[in-house]
Amino acid sequence: MDTADFFEIHRFASVDSTNEAVKRAAAAGATEGWLAVADEQTAGKGRRGRSWASPPGESLYFSFLLKPDLAPALLPQVTIVAGLAVAYAIRRELQLPALIKWPNDIVIGGKKVCGILTEAFSCGGGTAVVVGIGINVNTAAFPKELQDRATSLFLERSGSGNAAPVDRDALLMAVLAAYAEGYARFMEEGSLAKIREAYEALMVSLGNEVRIEDPAGAYTAVCRGIGADGAMRIALPDGTEQMVSSGEISVRGLYGYV
Ligand code: BTN
Repeated sequence: MDTADFFEIHRFASVDSTNEAVKRAAAAGATEGWLAVADEQTAGKGRRGRSWASPPGESLYFSFLLKPDLAPALLPQVTIVAGLAVAYAIRRELQLPALIKWPNDIVIGGKKVCGILTEAFSCGGGTAVVVGIGINVNTAAFPKELQDRATSLFLERSGSGNAAPVDRDALLMAVLAAYAEGYARFMEEGSLAKIREAYEALMVSLGNEVRIEDPAGAYTAVCRGIGADGAMRIALPDGTEQMVSSGEISVRGLYGYV
């Protein structure tokens, strides 16, 4: 699928949150692919009620509308498609070793460079989805308390000898092209079967021990990949395999964020 055929791009100098801009547009009748990209967000949202710092002139903040004809339980899978698209675009555009921290984050060198906030909402009697993506692009420095957990593409590229600012628009277009392609493959079957292998190849946790923070009690397991529904496949110490879905748990590396 062609990017230009799928996405209808709307640019904002400043907006509260691009996720909210998409929801407002959906309420006013916008169709699938309606996209908001902002230079600045005044109320950028992260997951779990956190805020997402969104100063002007620096990074990428964008969200788009999906109206997949799928059961609501399958909707989180669009986040999996987004994670793969961002990691893939960063690798192809900038030759940086981006990996996916299942299911919502992209990391480079163990530090977060991108977060994804997918929200389902009621729209015209059905369920629609907004996928919101924040990428730390040209951030030159992070507050002290974030320095060991957050990075930007500019910082990573400078570290390998190229201190030129990253072209935000070229990166946006690369992510959108990768998303349009991955989403088309996903919708062909309504499952992740066709992109699963590519996704697993970029999972930061694959084959590693992870800590599963289940509300019923935390435990340790080895990440074995994902299922066709996007849940993480884990092996327990007794060798049995289980699936864990992102709504229920959070996954940490044994010794820190990844
Ligand atoms: C997270 O890691 O907590 C998710 C962060 C998602 C941030 C993006 S920026 C564009 C879109 N608009 C928002 O208000 N949030 C998402």
